[in-house]
Amino acid sequence: MRVLRLRRTLGTLLALGVLGGSASCTAAHGDDARPGDDPPAALAPFERLLPAPLSVRAEGPGYSFGPGTVIRTGRGADEEVRRVGELLAEQLRGPSGLPLPVVDGVQGDGIRLGIDEEAEGLGEEGYRLESGPGGITLTARTPAGLFRAGQTLRQLVPAAGPGTVPGGTVTDRPRFAYRGAMVDIARHFFSVEQVKRYVDQLAQYKVNTLHLHLTDDQGWRLAVDSWPRLAEYGGGSEVGGGPGGHWTKDEYRELVAYAGERYVDVVPEIDMPGHVNAALASYAELNCDGKAPERYTGTKVGFSSLCIGKERTYEFIDEVLGELAALTPGRYLHIGGDEAHVTPAADYAAFMDRAQAVVGRYGKTVMGWHQLAAARPAQGAVLQYWGHDKTSAADRAAVVAAAKAGHRLVLSPADRLYLDMKYEAATKPGLAWAGYVPVRRAYSWNPGAYLAGVPESAVLGVEAPLWTENVATRADWELMAFPRVLGLAELGWSPAGALDWASYSRRLAAQEPRLDAQGIGFYRAPDVPWAQ
Ligand code: ACM
Repeated sequence: MRVLRLRRTLGTLLALGVLGGSASCTAAHGDDARPGDDPPAALAPFERLLPAPLSVRAEGPGYSFGPGTVIRTGRGADEEVRRVGELLAEQLRGPSGLPLPVVDGVQGDGIRLGIDEEAEGLGEEGYRLESGPGGITLTARTPAGLFRAGQTLRQLVPAAGPGTVPGGTVTDRPRFAYRGAMVDIARHFFSVEQVKRYVDQLAQYKVNTLHLHLTDDQGWRLAVDSWPRLAEYGGGSEVGGGPGGHWTKDEYRELVAYAGERYVDVVPEIDMPGHVNAALASYAELNCDGKAPERYTGTKVGFSSLCIGKERTYEFIDEVLGELAALTPGRYLHIGGDEAHVTPAADYAAFMDRAQAVVGRYGKTVMGWHQLAAARPAQGAVLQYWGHDKTSAADRAAVVAAAKAGHRLVLSPADRLYLDMKYEAATKPGLAWAGYVPVRRAYSWNPGAYLAGVPESAVLGVEAPLWTENVATRADWELMAFPRVLGLAELGWSPAGALDWASYSRRLAAQEPRLDAQGIGFYRAPDVPWAQ
């Protein structure tokens, strides 16, 4: 049995392409070895890692993670490394029940966090994790890398209580710089607390970007001082006629800071020139005819537009984007640009020219949905592709041409990464306009070779949006996002050679105790070999 297990272990790691030529898998799996069938949950810790790391070398005896374990940050380590250590301690204390004090100085055993700015091959977010009887050393060039290393360590310790962390070395860095998830808090309003919860859920799988769809026809969710009725009135509606709501600027800042501590950048989106009924309803002066429409609580799209010929429109976007830029430490402001069906193409292009210039003036980089490709994307603008297998060749061609002209793409294929698509016919809630998206389909594609004519170097990354037309509760949200968003995390982080459904689905199944322990109401998708 033991021999079989070991062979299986080696086979899995070799299939992942992670062992290189130097496999030495000794005594790493004793604590997990079980006779009989080998359910996914019995995968050894290094085999379970999700997203799959760049390289793993299981070697030698492990570290005894127990009541004596301390977390060490280099003596005099800067405040940020100390904070990463404190957060890791907090994350490990919950499931382990251990005290895990954080102390100064990396001499001595325990979990050691250290920056090495000269470390090679790790990039901005990569890390090395070395585990042996004397302790566990996490090394990175940046605090962000140390944070990612800590998330790997969370998967190597037992799901509950003390135990052995196997001996060996993980060397890791991401394939793509942008690994995002979006949530639409406009169609249905959600609290900062719920979004923070999602940040925690995502950051543990190394997702590094949270895109917030803050405004749409059905609601305006962020306070803007210069246009207060946007949130006060325009925020007071949502799909289905519920009360809606909005975030104050302080709440928004709190969310941005919380995400930042987890090395998750927030990309705020104010969708324009379409998807603006909530703004038009709030201010009559934004309408070409000077009359404010009713607030909207249905689910149609493509019926509203800012008034392209009116100067007041440009004062509006300048003030709104100026306030938003001031709240945003990250590089990007997303200005939407999708489904502007009632804005003539020439008007759309003229409007987007001016909106992009405003973003640039506030020192930010434009992100937009890929319809911007057919207008005049500003230099450096990032285009978010949300097409699918049935998207027309002409629509794709504009995006491919933009990529060839130097624009980077974030890929969110609707029939792969839209988390609001139903898993299958019986899924409630969810939509199906892009087809059903089972867990396997969400995972089984290669972002580096997805759009013919777009090289991997033009792909900034991937993002999984969660639209909320009929996602109204935390339970709905988690059911639709989990477990598919873990596939997004792996597509964004892991090397292309590691992407393999057989391996991934077993590792995903092995996440079950952690998802359960975190109270995440995930979908027990039938294509995943869950243990129970
Ligand atoms: C979109 O789904 N309208 C970006």
